Amino acid sequence: MAPEEDALTPSAVTEFGESDFVVVANRLPIDMERHPDGTTTWKRSPGGLVTALEPLLRRRHGAWIGWPGVAEDDDGDVPGGGEPILDEDLRMYPVRLSSTDVAEYYEGFSNATLWPLYHDVIVKPIYQREWWDRYVEVNRRFADATSRAAAEGATVWVQDYQLQLVPKMLRMLRPDLTIGFFLHIPFPPVELFMQMPWRTEIIEGLLGADLVGFHLPGGAQNFLVLARRLLGANTSRATIGVRSRLGEVQFGFRTIKVGAFPISIDSAELDQKARNRNIRRRAREIRTELGGARKILLGVDRLDYTKGIDVRLKAFSELLAEGRVKREDTVLVQLATPSRERVESYRVLRDEIEREVGHINGEYGEVGHPVVQYLHRPIPRDDLIAFFVAADVMLVTPLRDGMNLVAKEYVACRSDLGGALVLSEFTGAAAELRQSYLVNPHDLEGVKDGIEEALNQDPEDGRRRMRALRRQVLAHDVDRWARSFLDALAGKTETISE
Ligand code: ADP
Ligand code: F6P
Repeated sequence: MAPEEDALTPSAVTEFGESDFVVVANRLPIDMERHPDGTTTWKRSPGGLVTALEPLLRRRHGAWIGWPGVAEDDDGDVPGGGEPILDEDLRMYPVRLSSTDVAEYYEGFSNATLWPLYHDVIVKPIYQREWWDRYVEVNRRFADATSRAAAEGATVWVQDYQLQLVPKMLRMLRPDLTIGFFLHIPFPPVELFMQMPWRTEIIEGLLGADLVGFHLPGGAQNFLVLARRLLGANTSRATIGVRSRLGEVQFGFRTIKVGAFPISIDSAELDQKARNRNIRRRAREIRTELGGARKILLGVDRLDYTKGIDVRLKAFSELLAEGRVKREDTVLVQLATPSRERVESYRVLRDEIEREVGHINGEYGEVGHPVVQYLHRPIPRDDLIAFFVAADVMLVTPLRDGMNLVAKEYVACRSDLGGALVLSEFTGAAAELRQSYLVNPHDLEGVKDGIEEALNQDPEDGRRRMRALRRQVLAHDVDRWARSFLDALAGKTETISE
């Protein structure tokens, strides 16, 4: 047996579990926090995947397999004691990761190899053999845990780039399962993916699924080309649709479907929350605290180099320098959740952003009146909604982003039809939110023009744009995303075999 095949052979055959619908993701929807006095508490996990999937899985009373967010080096210390953590309507199965697993599988292969490679190599991906070996081993652990939790004939939905080998491993353990896979980040152009030393194993891992889903048809099309080139598989060649016209890969004796399913948010819930009186009051307070008549520009992101936080700071700084934006009239609020803080490129980014914020405030701020307000921490959900309601202009300027849920959240919160969205063309959301102020984040002058236009928009034009954006976001919510994926997995969607 070739070493690569050996590396993908799962370790255990397991018994059937109890759950008919199982989501497998790197993280559980809650993160464990360990305190110095030995006590533990739980908090919401960061990121768009949890935002999208948690409400949905609760409604279906499903099971969730994932890592509880802390390294566990001591055998006796598994959260939940190895048993599922039972919540009112969710059964969570923790997968244990040691500190070496975290360093090599999560920080290493997932976030210093795959993440930059799949995001257009904005920073250089690092290829390390030990990280790959650990990625294989941890994927096997997730496959084993899933195999133990899933009932006979269950539907299992594997999520994201951290677990691309799980579909194949799980199929070998449990051929009775229906397996879907969804990638929450962009799937790169073929020329970039070909850098990956373990490219064939990854494509083969994904082909263990019955359906492989991407946000956009372009990602799905890239995947078909790679299946042909790397595995010699027969694939469909016609254009894949959005939630329709699935592609096909013939591999071995199996046919794997491939499709595009743009993810979304629980739009109606957010819309309702944003209309709440207390949230509206908090939004007014925020405006007053930030200086009454000043216009508020808002950025909300994980502190990640893909998000283009540096782009919007630079654009803002130049607009101030050129007098196109007045320091007395404007404030930029950047809310940045800490992310992957032990990965070198994230440390460098944090230093750069904080230096730039200091520089802009040093140049243009007044005592007690900074022009950039920067918070490096997660913001409680209700407060975040109040910020969305208060913001005149939302700045979403990633260099590359699979979807970007923040853009959709902002729109869902604006039932008053106020506000304006400046949105990078390099986000998945840009394919749907065409009435935003679309900008190319590599073109600084264009970004500055977009921000200026949004700040000075004619109120009637602004309302017209927001109405159209809201129509899109409210009609295409996370339930529709899940339904369209699961219907396709169940064979209810038209495929194109030519
Ligand atoms: P990603 O999945 O790459 O983090 P998304 O924009 O798709 O990006 O999703 C981010 C999610 O995290 C959204 O639900 C957003 O509201 C939330 N979020 C981002 N930044 C913050 C913050 N500073 N405080 C609280 N929540 C945040
Ligand atoms: O949406 C992309 C994603 O990587 C998710 O897989 C993840 O949950 C989220 O961003 C946050 O990243 P992390 O889990 O590394 O903190």
